This record gives sequence, structure tokens and C-alpha cells, in this order.
Amino acid sequence: MTEHTEVNFDDFDEMIAPKPEDNDFDAVVEAALSRRGFLGGVLAVGGFTALAGGLLPNTARAEGTRFTFEAIGASTEDKITVPDGFKSEVVVRWGDPLFSDAPEFDPTTRGTAETQARAFGDNTDGMEIFSYQGKTLLAVNNEYTNRSIIWGNRGDSGPNEDDIQKGMNAHGVTIAELAQGENGWQLVKDSPFNRRITPQTVMKITGPAAGHDLMKTAADPSGTKTLGTWNNCGNGTTPWGTYLACEENFNGYFSAADEAHKVSPELARYGISSKDWGYAWATVDPRFDVAKHPNESNRAGFVVEIDPTDPTSTPKKRTALGRFKHENAECVVNNDGKLVIYMGDDERGEFLYRYVSDNSYSPGADTDDLMENGRLYAAKFHDTGAGEWLELSEGATGMSKAQICIHTRQAASKVGATTMDRPEWVAANPNSADVYCALTNNKNRGVKPNKGGDLTPVGGPNPREANKYGQIVRWTPNGDDHTADGFAWDLYVMAGNPTVHDDARKGSANIDDGNMFNSPDGLSFDSAGLLWIQTDGKYSNEGDFAGQGNNQMLAGDPVTGEIRRFLTGPNECEVTGLSWSADKRTMFVGIQHPGEKGSSQWPDGNDVPRSAIVAVTREDGGIIG
Ligand code: FEO
Ligand code: CA
Ligand code: CA
Repeated sequence: MTEHTEVNFDDFDEMIAPKPEDNDFDAVVEAALSRRGFLGGVLAVGGFTALAGGLLPNTARAEGTRFTFEAIGASTEDKITVPDGFKSEVVVRWGDPLFSDAPEFDPTTRGTAETQARAFGDNTDGMEIFSYQGKTLLAVNNEYTNRSIIWGNRGDSGPNEDDIQKGMNAHGVTIAELAQGENGWQLVKDSPFNRRITPQTVMKITGPAAGHDLMKTAADPSGTKTLGTWNNCGNGTTPWGTYLACEENFNGYFSAADEAHKVSPELARYGISSKDWGYAWATVDPRFDVAKHPNESNRAGFVVEIDPTDPTSTPKKRTALGRFKHENAECVVNNDGKLVIYMGDDERGEFLYRYVSDNSYSPGADTDDLMENGRLYAAKFHDTGAGEWLELSEGATGMSKAQICIHTRQAASKVGATTMDRPEWVAANPNSADVYCALTNNKNRGVKPNKGGDLTPVGGPNPREANKYGQIVRWTPNGDDHTADGFAWDLYVMAGNPTVHDDARKGSANIDDGNMFNSPDGLSFDSAGLLWIQTDGKYSNEGDFAGQGNNQMLAGDPVTGEIRRFLTGPNECEVTGLSWSADKRTMFVGIQHPGEKGSSQWPDGNDVPRSAIVAVTREDGGIIG
């Protein structure tokens, strides 16, 4: 099954962009080691709680509980498991047609470019359920493709041109109407809302970077109109009901016919090189040839706003929100009406960002300006438990507004933001001003700098060297004002394995042999205020990860710190994407890349595993979040 070897995104980037030579890294390792006292870690977590407004996540267990389910065990079974009293059903899978003029998925051919363009994309990720005119509309990212599966029918011959186009068409975003009937939740074929947005869909470039020379290409001398979106990871939802699809590992699709071609340092910072990650798009579409069209890659790495209720609408790339490997975009309306968006850049040693709109949101008023004019910030964390947002201003960076929005990583490096352990999803607590971010893992913490040469010392919210397990940091803005310059932070949880380790790798006090996991990734709050945690980690169930089983979803109580496992996924999957029906009686959960290494038959019981969205409900039909 593995002719098309799939290398982990970050590992590939490291292969092609090794550590910069000219740094003073030995000094950092020294400092990291001497900070071992802090790396007491688990103790430090407790120490910081006092600084974060008196929350006691890791110690006190509140009387009673807000959980309405009994925790389940870890699993290595090739299926979805949920607690007693709950059930799950598959709603839509990779390749399911959105329209009746497209054929049902054929596991022998695995579809064509033409059928894929009218069918649900591969590798479901961030998603949101919208209610509109009494309809249930699903907007969901199709992040990337499992090439060993979508091309698995080709054996040693490799993909042909149509296969490569099929792969391209399996990327992007799917909008689909869902309805609940006698057979549970199903996709409504031929709904007027159904739409595939692919790497070929026309998009408008908006904001400070629009029209800048770096955004101009041979096909678009205006620098304002681009084609498509790809590698859409997490998502966001605006207060006015549009969907935000966040472009993450956009770099892995560019290549050059001449493998000796050297890209500029600006492109290299984003992991672009003469080699792609195996998608071969440049062989069918020359704009992905980075030697011929270097500016094309400047037009990816943004947050894309999509109106799920208007299938004729043109998606907008919102450059004001910066360009990096976007995970999700968590929107908060501040007390004064300002739109605040928290965003992670998911790469080892990259940064956590905040956007603040200049103007205020007013329901019913025009919203187009709110993601056009505003300020970008990157987070600086101090070991004291205090933190600050550093503005990426023209003065502080020596860059123009457009340059800041195109070379955002370089701007954040210039202001000295804190290098993080791969910031994944951010989630804002609906019941307080607290905000949480999953820092999934970082084997380079205290080992080597990021791609820009910024050092990655052990400390602050990244307290473990060569961090294998990940942690969730949270912060409370000063005065509960999301536009404030300062905040107080602590760690909500440090994942770990207390059955294998006795040091900080055992995790924080709210981790035990009954709920341990690694690599937190997706985060979402439900309406009751529980924090749902989805994992994209090691599923070997061996060594450091013994007893942790397959990837999973857990729920955390933000007040008591208690964490319970709710769902386990099939073999070799990641659990990612979470949303609820309007009546809160269905929870939709995404299952990505089952069988990515050839060991799953989920969901259809055959050798073609398919990424899918499942609906989880209570057997008694009750509220589920
Ligand atoms: Fe697509 Fe950072 O996960
Ligand atoms: Ca993710
Ligand atoms: Ca991840």
C-alpha cells in the first residue's frame, strides 16, 4: 500500500531545509538545561495557576461533575468507540457524490478527476454546521490527500495525469446540505447549496497585500485574483455567519523541474523548495513550478472567507490576517465590539498570532472592513506567567503593511515573539475570557532553531525539551479585554505517559493512566463550556506511547481540570473537526486519514479506507453539547 511514501509534513520540511548554521545554539542548550528547575514542569503548572486568575486546573476536583458520560478506555480497534449510551454513524465519506449526475464512489478506480470534482473531498478537517433558512449546511475543509490510497489502484505504475488532477480536486472545501431522516444524517444530493471549492476556484485577494508586486503573477498582473485554496486545516466562523478555511501546509505543492533550483530565503522560510511532497501538481499546472512562477506561492498561506449560503459567491483571501501555516482562526467579539481573531502557525518553533479589527462589529451592518483593516500581533510569553502581544507594526518591523501580511513569519521574528511547540487550534471559552491553544509537540524544542534561525529555548509554555507529548496553554487577557496588550497564562494540561515516565514526561496532575493521550490538536468549546480535545499523534501504542492507543477525542472541564476520553478513532486516523447541529443533539466529528499506512478497513470494511464525518448522538436523543 505504500508505494507513494508519505513523509510527515514537518519532517519533509526539515529534510529540505536543515537547521541554519550560523547561530549560537550551544548557549541555548545550556540555558535550557539550567532551567531544569522550571522543567519541574508539572509543579510549574501548578505555580502558574495562581497567576492566571485563581483557576485550579490540575489540583482541585470540583464536587459533582459537568460530564454527562463515563470515560472510555484507550483503543487499538479499527472502529469508532463512544461511551455507553451514545452511538455514531457515518454521514459522508471521501468520494461520496454531491450531485446525482456523478457516480457513487468506485473502490476499484477510486474515481477520476471529473467525478472527484463533484464529490466530497479527501481528508476531512475543520468544519462548521450552519443553519440557514431551516436547512443544515456543512462547510468542511478537505485538507490533503492520502496518495497511497487515492492512487493505490495504480500499483507500481504511479499516477497518471488524470490521477494527479483527481488529487487536486480532492483538496479544498466542501459545502453540502445535510438532513436527518429515518436513516440518520445524510447528505442531500443536488441541494442548491452543494458546492466544491478546489485549487482551481476563482478567489479574490483582499487586504493590505492585494495588488502588491509580490502578489503579481503572469496570469494575474493585478495581484488581486487567484485560483483556489489547498491544505485547508482548521477553520473559523465569523459572527456574521461566514466560514473561514485556513491554509496550512501550502508549501508542499510547489516544485521546480530543475531540482537544483534554489528558492529565495523568503520562500525558504515557508518551506518552499524545488521539491514538492509528492502531489506532482507542477506537472499538470505550471503555476506550481516555483522556478517559473515564484510569486504564486505568495498567494497561499492565508485565511479564506467563504459564504456557505451563496454557492455563487467568490471566496476572499483575507491577507490582513497574515500569511503563515494557519491552523484555525478563532473569532471573538470583544466587549467593545472589536473583532479579535486568534491564530496559530503550526510549525516547530513558529508563533501564535492575534488580529484586532480597527472597527467594531455591529450585527446587520456591513462587515467587509472587519477583516481588511486591523492590526496583527504575535505573542511573547514570559516565565513569570505574564505575556504580551507584540504588534507587527511598520515601525517595529521596518516592513510595509503589505510586506507584513506576506512575510508575516519574518515580521514576528523581528519583534522577538516566543517560538512555540507547533501552535494548533485555538479555542475561546464562551463562559469566560480564557483562550486555549493546543501546542501539539515539538521534537526540536531546545534542540534546534526554527527555519528563521530563531532560538527555541526550553521555558515558558514550552517547558519540555524535545517535546513528544504536547500541552495546552491558556491565557486570560488583562481586564478580560481581548484587545489588551497583556495577559496571564498557565498550562491547562501537559500530556504525557505516567505509566512509562516519572519525570515531566509523565504529564501534569490531570493526566493518569485512564485518560492519557499525546499530541493535542483540535480544540473546541461546546455550549456547556466543556473543552473538546482532538488528537493527531503517535498511534504506535508502544514505547513512549504505550497504552495510549489510537487517536481520540477527550473532553476537559476548564474549571476542575478533569479530562475524560469520549471517543476513539479507527486505526491510523487522526480525529479532527467538530461541530454541532443547531439543536445540540448531534455532534459531528471528523475522521482523517484512516489507514494512512495501510492498516485500516474503516469505514466500509474493505481495503480502501476513507476519511469521513461521523454523527454522534445519545441513544436517548438528548443534548450532546
Ligand atoms: Fe493540519 Fe496543524 O494540522
Ligand atoms: Ca490539525
Ligand atoms: Ca497536527
